[in-house]
Amino acid sequence: MVITVFGLGFVGLTTALGFAEYGHEVYGVEINQNRLDTIKSGKLPFLEPGLDEALKRHIDGRFHPISTSELGYAVAQSDCVYYCVGTPYGKDGQADITYLLAAIDQTVESVNDERFRVLVVKSTIPPSTTEQKIIPYLGSKGIIPGEQYGVANNPEFLREGHCWDDFIKADRIVLGVSDNKSEAVIRSIYASQSMPVFCVSLNTGEFIKYLSNTLLATLISYSNEMSVIADTIGGIDIVQAFRILHLDKRWGGCDMASYVYPGCGYGGYCLPKDTNALYSVTKTAGFDAQILKNVIDTNDAMPRYIVDRIQKVIGVSDKSVKIGILGLSFKPGSDDVRDAPSAKIIAKLIESGYNNVLGYDPVANDEFKAHYSLKMSYYTDYAKLLEDADTLVIATAWPEFKDIHQRTDKPVIDCRFML
Ligand SMILES: NC(=O)c1ccc[n+]([C@@H]2O[C@H](COP(=O)([O-])OP(=O)(O)OC[C@H]3O[C@@H](n4cnc5c(N)ncnc54)[C@H](O)[C@@H]3O)[C@@H](O)[C@H]2O)c1
Repeated sequence: MVITVFGLGFVGLTTALGFAEYGHEVYGVEINQNRLDTIKSGKLPFLEPGLDEALKRHIDGRFHPISTSELGYAVAQSDCVYYCVGTPYGKDGQADITYLLAAIDQTVESVNDERFRVLVVKSTIPPSTTEQKIIPYLGSKGIIPGEQYGVANNPEFLREGHCWDDFIKADRIVLGVSDNKSEAVIRSIYASQSMPVFCVSLNTGEFIKYLSNTLLATLISYSNEMSVIADTIGGIDIVQAFRILHLDKRWGGCDMASYVYPGCGYGGYCLPKDTNALYSVTKTAGFDAQILKNVIDTNDAMPRYIVDRIQKVIGVSDKSVKIGILGLSFKPGSDDVRDAPSAKIIAKLIESGYNNVLGYDPVANDEFKAHYSLKMSYYTDYAKLLEDADTLVIATAWPEFKDIHQRTDKPVIDCRFML
């Protein structure tokens, strides 16, 4: 089968290489020229263990990274077009589907033949988006889904830092479809694989992705609120309490348990925007979802609470104190800084008058500097930061911070409860 994949970010590059690994011929389209050139040279544009090997295996074979100028040839060959472009925060927390609609435009404008193709959305879009926005959009161009084009979704559940493994060893494949012809085409992509494939309605496919992400966000906000409750009451060892909670054999020990643990609030590209988007789409549909609302509010309140914790340690009067922020990426094992809690904490510290913020991350300094214009100094040497800072704040749970108490006797505020 021949497949075109739009967007070579975390999801798109993994999907394109994963389909190549299954034995399909894959064209990967990317509009960011730097990103495309990096991929063409056989290198990853971000840190993602395992994906580098897959890129080396397929770059001169079944995987063809291309620019939009080569799109016509790629789409003409393709049975399926996958969309893995960003769906960022839009107005009032809604998902912004501008990139998705632009990529759909580029697809339908690139060919002029009678061949049946399936347009598959892998980007995360709120339930009802395909039915209420994408199909009418295609309709406005004279395209009736099910005839020349099929329309479907195939949400992605991978975790950054584990993209390749999560894709190749996916526990389930969800296909949101509305016609048999499209279902047959997408099923054949996965025909050589052993994971179960579930075909559901378009809205159900979209909903399952949000069911998953909002559950994770809820577990995190629950844990964070519990840590604030414990801190407010006092005399409670939060780390010990959560570790003992995890011994419950009904669910302790499973991977999901890692989400039932306090920290700085959830961040990264998905959980913040997806919880907001589901809340927003539901509110527009007439229901004000209270659990989701509180999950979001709890998360939004975390940076303020953490800055209060820092101020309790350093005192509010001396604003020139040097505060060392350890970890800038949104989670360890990744250089992704999108919606990183560290950025919100630093912004709040600066807003509160602290003008000596020092930051260190083992891999994400450059990304962070490029993404945020925060007035702070960057350190590439962890030992030097320990030497220069007066107070240390662990904002990302990188394993190298584990022995910090053996390396310094300065105050450490462990916002990840990792020590
Ligand atoms: N990152 C994750 O962990 C994750 C997991 C599951 C689902 N998702 C969802 O997958 C989607 C993509 O996420 P991501 O993290 O891979 O985003 P990303 O920002 O890393 O990648 C998106 C890429 O699409 C490219 N692009 C945009 N418009 C294009 C066009 N018209 N033609 C070609 N390329 C184009 C961008 O330049 C970018 O490189 C989002 O909807 C996200 O919510 C992400």
